[in-house]
Amino acid sequence: MPIYFDKNTRTFHLSAKDTSYILHVLKNGAVLHVYFGKKMKSPNIYNLLKFPHINLVDTDITNFGNQLMLDFLPQEYPAYGNTDFRSPAYQIQLENGSTISDLRYLSHKIYKGKPKLEGLPATYVENEDEADTLELELYDKVANLKVTLIYTAFRDYDVITRSAKFENMGKEDIKLLKALSMNVDFNDSNFDMLQLSGAWARERHVIRRPLVPGVQSIESRRGASSHQQNPFIALLRKDADEWHGDVYGFSLVYSGNFLAQVEVDQYNMARVSMGINPFDFSWLLKPSETFQTPEVVMVYSDSGLNKMSNTYHKLYRSRLMRSKFKDKERPILINNWEATYFDFTEEKLKELAKEAKDLGIELFVLDDGWFGKRNSDNSSLGDWFVNKEKIPSGLDGLAKGINSLGLKFGLWMEPEMVSPDSDLYRRHPDWCIHVPDRPRSESRNQLVLDLSRKDVQDYIIKVVSDILESANISYVKWDMNRNMTEIGSALLPPERQRETAHRYILGLYRILEEITTRFPDVLFESCAGGGGRFDPGMLYYMPQTWTSDDTDAIERLKIQYGTSIVYPLISMGSHISAVPNHQVHRITPLKIRAHVAMSANFGFELDLTKLSSEEKEEIKKYVEKYKEIRKLVQFGDFYRLLSPFEGNETAWLIVSEDKREFLLYYFRVLGGANEPIKRLRLKGINPDFNYVLEDDGSLYSGDELMYAGIVIPELKGDFQSIMMHFKEESIKNG
Ligand code: DGJ
Repeated sequence: MPIYFDKNTRTFHLSAKDTSYILHVLKNGAVLHVYFGKKMKSPNIYNLLKFPHINLVDTDITNFGNQLMLDFLPQEYPAYGNTDFRSPAYQIQLENGSTISDLRYLSHKIYKGKPKLEGLPATYVENEDEADTLELELYDKVANLKVTLIYTAFRDYDVITRSAKFENMGKEDIKLLKALSMNVDFNDSNFDMLQLSGAWARERHVIRRPLVPGVQSIESRRGASSHQQNPFIALLRKDADEWHGDVYGFSLVYSGNFLAQVEVDQYNMARVSMGINPFDFSWLLKPSETFQTPEVVMVYSDSGLNKMSNTYHKLYRSRLMRSKFKDKERPILINNWEATYFDFTEEKLKELAKEAKDLGIELFVLDDGWFGKRNSDNSSLGDWFVNKEKIPSGLDGLAKGINSLGLKFGLWMEPEMVSPDSDLYRRHPDWCIHVPDRPRSESRNQLVLDLSRKDVQDYIIKVVSDILESANISYVKWDMNRNMTEIGSALLPPERQRETAHRYILGLYRILEEITTRFPDVLFESCAGGGGRFDPGMLYYMPQTWTSDDTDAIERLKIQYGTSIVYPLISMGSHISAVPNHQVHRITPLKIRAHVAMSANFGFELDLTKLSSEEKEEIKKYVEKYKEIRKLVQFGDFYRLLSPFEGNETAWLIVSEDKREFLLYYFRVLGGANEPIKRLRLKGINPDFNYVLEDDGSLYSGDELMYAGIVIPELKGDFQSIMMHFKEESIKNG
């Protein structure tokens, strides 16, 4: 049984594929964390629980009386107010004002499968033999609070998921001041912390830093998971790199304010905790009410970062995304945003679509500006009615026109927002997030609808459904272009105002659940000013995300490389755009723009009617090639070879599951003179196979490519790239 409880030693041993996770219940009922790491078959718990002054298994803990300092013991879900002075995983406030709590073992359940988390996205199983679950119930007898720690260990992945559920079992109100999803206390702090940080147009840059005593954290207070910090951290052993060493990943399946923190204490233990950001959060738990935290997906890798990423990629592709498109090849799209911005006519759109069809593109996406009086970003969000001046034949007519050219039709929407200059806002000025007597700060001339309100949720479900029913729409780009300010809701009582941001996310999830269930045949792509909400919570509903508003090929190397630390290639939208690039004004060759975009979910974002005939011929070849390699790119295993954060070159590799086919991409930013020979040693392929390079038919043995490497041909000039497609000899010849 992958989850085992030893009654004699009061120890839980959870086993995932090659991972062990062990907890121990002290005789007084407090729960300690014992181990997380490489799988152990039957460790001797007596050894694991020996601390310098105390052997916890033998000891009747009650004998220690006042002398037992929790501060030097690794805790499983630490409380506030006892002898552990580190950051607690949760904190409550009782009616008498007390903020102290103490959880002791109550009972537990072990069963096959994985439970759903009510109202929240989470990883899942397709049959119950895939995973095992432990529900560990803890109780605070003074507060009458039950906290259930929920763990699932996946049998085929090095994955353990965690969340916590709070239940008020008493007669008095309990206020949750902090309710994190997980806590792991490592026995030492010889780690580096890796985070994915950035800003609009430069999301998810990889940052690695050593742990130091004190608290190091990343967080969002913006109401969205954010461009600035992704809800993910990893701890890497000092000697760990892409291929070697222990790595622990922590990824939060949540799209709102989060906190991910590591506290290094006086004994050099490292406490990792993660969950909803306690900043400006509280939750009132009335008698018999429950509160479920979001899920953290913990991945252990014994062989470096790349293995950790591969685990996340596979799990998120197959057991987080739910859409029927999760296993389907995604269409090559053209989006009119950078081609026209707001300035288009129906005729112009059709011209673009016609060009797209000639180039082999499969889906035409109409971006912002098709509704209300929206000719710039200063009006009409909320008025989701087609602008007949721009599109005389309406969405239905336009979709039919596009379909008759042989393309599918997709549409942009930003349903969570309202423009002050809109009929919706004039009708419902209290429908936005706001606080009485305070200004309503605008950003991009818009306000955020109050999705904590059921009437607003219902309205959004209705307008989006009406639009999706009004025309043959195969794809939706669901955008969200600002963060929350002056956070408050007109319908919540004073004592619940600090619930607004989390209630918003729960409201968003309800809307997405409803709409994606009603329209299973629509492919949804999420977006938030590019990658401002690129998180596992959104991927649960929408199986792809617009990675960044920055479409420059060179900037994208870093963005896509960083994104790949957690997220699979199939989830990343990547488009060829015009030069000079609209964000960084750089001019790069079409080839490198194509190679970067063909490393992920491929598309276009430029005025195709302005291309020269040579460019069109070149693009046709890329489109044709992408169709040939699409399955490999979207479902293959990804290996990072050279990091754009470390130098002038980037390289990555995509290998099919059976290792019979792979793509090698090499990018060089700036050219040089009289350069040294460059050999790239490949990973993840089969050393026993012989591979043929498609382009020139040359033959390589797998071991040669892995151990001696392949020479990168001489490249001239800046912004150069190569994409090499190899096939195992027998499939090539067969
Ligand atoms: C932000 C998105 O990231 C862009 O791709 C585009 O859809 C604009 N919004 C439209 O307003």
